[in-house]
Amino acid sequence: MRRIYLDHAATTPMLPEVVAAMEPWLSGGFGNPSSLHAEGRAAKAAIDQSREIFADLLGCLFGEIVFTSSGTEAANLGVIGGALSARDQTGSWEVILGAAEHHCVLHTQKLLELLGFTVLIAPVDREARVDADWIKEQVRGRTALVSVMHANNELGTFNDVVEIGRHCREHAAFFHVDAVQTFPGDWRVDDFEADLLTLAPHKFYGPKGVGVLYARSGVKPMALMVGGGQEREVRAGTENTAGIVGAGVAARILGEDLGWKNCIQEVRDCFADRLGEGFVFSVGPGSEVLPGHCHVRFPGVDAEHALIRLDREGVSASSGAACSSGSLEPSHVLAACGYSEKEAKEGLRFTFGRGNTLEEAERGAEIVGRVCREIAERRAKN
Ligand SMILES: Cc1ncc(COP(=O)(O)O)c(C=O)c1O
Repeated sequence: MRRIYLDHAATTPMLPEVVAAMEPWLSGGFGNPSSLHAEGRAAKAAIDQSREIFADLLGCLFGEIVFTSSGTEAANLGVIGGALSARDQTGSWEVILGAAEHHCVLHTQKLLELLGFTVLIAPVDREARVDADWIKEQVRGRTALVSVMHANNELGTFNDVVEIGRHCREHAAFFHVDAVQTFPGDWRVDDFEADLLTLAPHKFYGPKGVGVLYARSGVKPMALMVGGGQEREVRAGTENTAGIVGAGVAARILGEDLGWKNCIQEVRDCFADRLGEGFVFSVGPGSEVLPGHCHVRFPGVDAEHALIRLDREGVSASSGAACSSGSLEPSHVLAACGYSEKEAKEGLRFTFGRGNTLEEAERGAEIVGRVCREIAERRAKN
């Protein structure tokens, strides 16, 4: 039986068009994009074509796109480099991070503190939405940068980045948005008044090993990777031509018609409807949520145990939590939402993508329901 992949928030398979577009740059097109000769110019032109695609889709200028090696690097550059740039420009020394941000944002705290910043962690509600009023109260003249994700990668809920962005702009604080889970979408960087915004192409059917940072002109994040003057001296290091080309093709294909999001939502809804008794949905029906996300708990069933069983039965899912040395840490997102450690260890995340069918949703729900109920029954007997 074909496996059912329900972990698209972790990563997505590359589109065949992406693989085809990358191939020439993995073989013949080896020129260094910084070289002046024909091979170098060809690579630079291919990279710039990709830059154009991202600028178009984000509604920004060509020169405001910076390529990095991952979403993580883009977010590090946006948050740390952005805060350093803000401090240079305004002398402000405080940074605000949402408590349910991805670790690539949250774990900048230690470095920021070593660099002399004061870091405030903004609380979130039960569905991982940051408290916008709390942030608005804190943002004053001393705030260098605020970082809030557009949608949460575990629960799939959205933050009010429009409101927060407006407030940051009014108070001259830089605003970084982690839009890794929502790109491409029906929004543009100016909708959020974002100064910095992070994307990760492997989340939208592009390659791994490449990231994208939008940096508004006038922001110029301090380079964290230093060396050659690549990427307008914001990110040194020879660019990953094939990865950047693939990222651009994925963005263009997915961005030109967003109708695929409705198809994913239909499949996800079918799965959620068929899970059956015993599941507790982490996000209420009144909340806006990413089209592919379904986050649940089955009280009494440890996610780690369920995920191992599901993997054996051909279903790939996740808890949304970090995996270290073969065992799952309780999710920091659920902890920030106020879940107990036991509840946080029960979180199961199913994330649907373009390849999933209604048949897979039905079969997947049957397997997930059966596995969780079996584990719970066995637990109850012991
Ligand atoms: C919301 C969010 N931000 C950032 C990242 C990091 O991206 P990358 O895996 O490209 O480093 C991820 C990946 O899981 C994510 O989900």
